[in-house]
Amino acid sequence: MPAHRILILGATGGLGRALQSHFQPGYEVSTLGRSELDLERTDAISATLAAREFDVLLNAAGLTSPDVCEVEPECAHALNVAAPRAIAECCEAKRARMIHFSTDYVFSGEEREIWREGDETEPVNVYGRTKLAGEQAVLGASPGALVARVSWLYGHYKASHPDNVILKALQTDDLSAVADKISVPTSNADICHWVEQLIVSHPDISGPLHLCNSGTATWHSWAEVALKIAQHLGLPVKTTRVRPIALASLTQFKARRPLKTLMSNARLQGILGMEIRSWQDALEEYLVEKHQSK
Ligand SMILES: NC(=O)c1ccc[n+]([C@@H]2O[C@H](COP(=O)([O-])OP(=O)(O)OC[C@H]3O[C@@H](n4cnc5c(N)ncnc54)[C@H](OP(=O)(O)O)[C@@H]3O)[C@@H](O)[C@H]2O)c1
Repeated sequence: MPAHRILILGATGGLGRALQSHFQPGYEVSTLGRSELDLERTDAISATLAAREFDVLLNAAGLTSPDVCEVEPECAHALNVAAPRAIAECCEAKRARMIHFSTDYVFSGEEREIWREGDETEPVNVYGRTKLAGEQAVLGASPGALVARVSWLYGHYKASHPDNVILKALQTDDLSAVADKISVPTSNADICHWVEQLIVSHPDISGPLHLCNSGTATWHSWAEVALKIAQHLGLPVKTTRVRPIALASLTQFKARRPLKTLMSNARLQGILGMEIRSWQDALEEYLVEKHQSK
């Protein structure tokens, strides 16, 4: 196996921590946290990265809350557009490969049932617009970069929807979840395996690539499947039933959410030459690991 020196940005986030722990054993891994490189300071990026040695840069940093992006559009632009552009320029100068993480929110969520990499993008909020502009900036500066679009992440390092639902169901049987918002939950652990294969065996793959598990879900079905697995594992959840509600009934969101952003992973399956497992199988593995080790 050729040596790969991997630099991870955003290594304190949910995906970034998963990437760091996945690659740490077999690769030369380094990270740059906010205290060493504040990505809002675009002018500091070039010098800091120039002083580092790496072959592959994984950029899992960004302003990832759609609601914060909506109220802080300048910060969203700095972190999701200007910083990725500057990072890509450095990678290009170093001939390093950049793998930049993006989102299903680049799509409008209307008309199509499933989105492929080449489909038209039309984000509906500041988060999606800045992430799309970031994709374009990265590929403009470093055409060999890989833009990995992911959706509905969960995993060991940051609590997300299934963890929150299970926690709530240990206390109450009155649960509700949105049933008209469609995409696919994706395991951070699976993303790490796919990224490793893309680094080691597919160095020439570039452009947008959808990195997601197979199948389709709503926040409602995601919650009910998580609860059934939890019950099967012996957790004293008070219910496995969740009341379906409409996205429009939630008034707390500042940013509009796209409704149907399910991504096709056909390109990923073709590149890796393997079937990508279902989100239900990946979720079960995660919950077994999390709850049976206690
Ligand atoms: N989570 C999802 O469901 C989801 C869905 C679709 C796409 N994505 C994409 O996947 C990627 C990873 O998401 P995630 O959920 O793992 O993100 P996350 O947990 O929110 O982590 C974001 C990371 O960015 C870093 N960061 C933020 N502002 C910074 C700054 N000014 N300087 C340096 N670092 C800064 C954070 O560092 P601090 O710890 O210092 O704040 C943290 O390490 C992102 O590109 C996101 O857009 C995520």
